[in-house]
Amino acid sequence: MNEDLWKKVDSHLERLFVAEHTELDQIVENSHNAGLPDIQVSSAQGKFLKLLTIISGASQILEIGTLGGYSTAWLAQGLNPSGKVTSIEIDPDHAEVARKNIESVGLNERVEIVCSPAVEYLEGLINSDQVVFDLIFIDADKPSYPHYLDLCLKLSKPGTIILADNIIRQGELINTSSTDDKVIGVQQFCDILSSKSGISTSAMQTVGDKGYDGWTLSIVNHL
Ligand code: SAH
Ligand code: DHB
Ligand code: MG
Repeated sequence: MNEDLWKKVDSHLERLFVAEHTELDQIVENSHNAGLPDIQVSSAQGKFLKLLTIISGASQILEIGTLGGYSTAWLAQGLNPSGKVTSIEIDPDHAEVARKNIESVGLNERVEIVCSPAVEYLEGLINSDQVVFDLIFIDADKPSYPHYLDLCLKLSKPGTIILADNIIRQGELINTSSTDDKVIGVQQFCDILSSKSGISTSAMQTVGDKGYDGWTLSIVNHL
């Protein structure tokens, strides 16, 4: 088993299950041409995000880490018509590319891209005391995941779903002597999730187009 095979299988899955969504391919292409790194979710993962949005009936979605807006667009496609995705991006160049991309696929009425360091913006939302989200996708800087979790719980209600990307990191999750701050970030994030009462979590390892990684899926039961 190797990465070549994972990529081939992902292409096969993409042909089978994602081919009708070719309108979002331009986001990946535009982002690449604008010099953004190719670190967005795979198309199969994107469709998974859309299905999760539909299954949960989410109408208020928070995304931390927009990049070119590819995962944002998938989430937005699954929303009910009155719903909205708020996506936070620290890099003004990424945010600008993402806004253009979202506009070009006709989803701008359902998406707000906020250019800010995530912590700052989330703290502002918490202080405004009237915002809660139905679904939260954490996908920005990994060392901050524990902090994001803390802030996201303050923007949650019973039933809120929290998904966090890139927590397996080629298996480094279980390397207790790692000195990589990204690894340490996701390790602490998973430890906190496992020790918190009131939130129920599972995780999936994934292989494919994006190598070996995985995500956690949590539901908040009570605060
Ligand atoms: N969710 C995207 C990929 C996001 S990549 C997709 O799958 O399509 C991670 C993004 O998080 C990058 O664009 C990076 O600039 C942004 N980011 C990094 N640190 C951040 C911070 N502190 N606040 C907000 N965004 C941040
Ligand atoms: C990186 C970030 C991601 O969200 C991802 O899915 C893959 C890689 C990164 O920062 O390298
Ligand atoms: Mg990611």
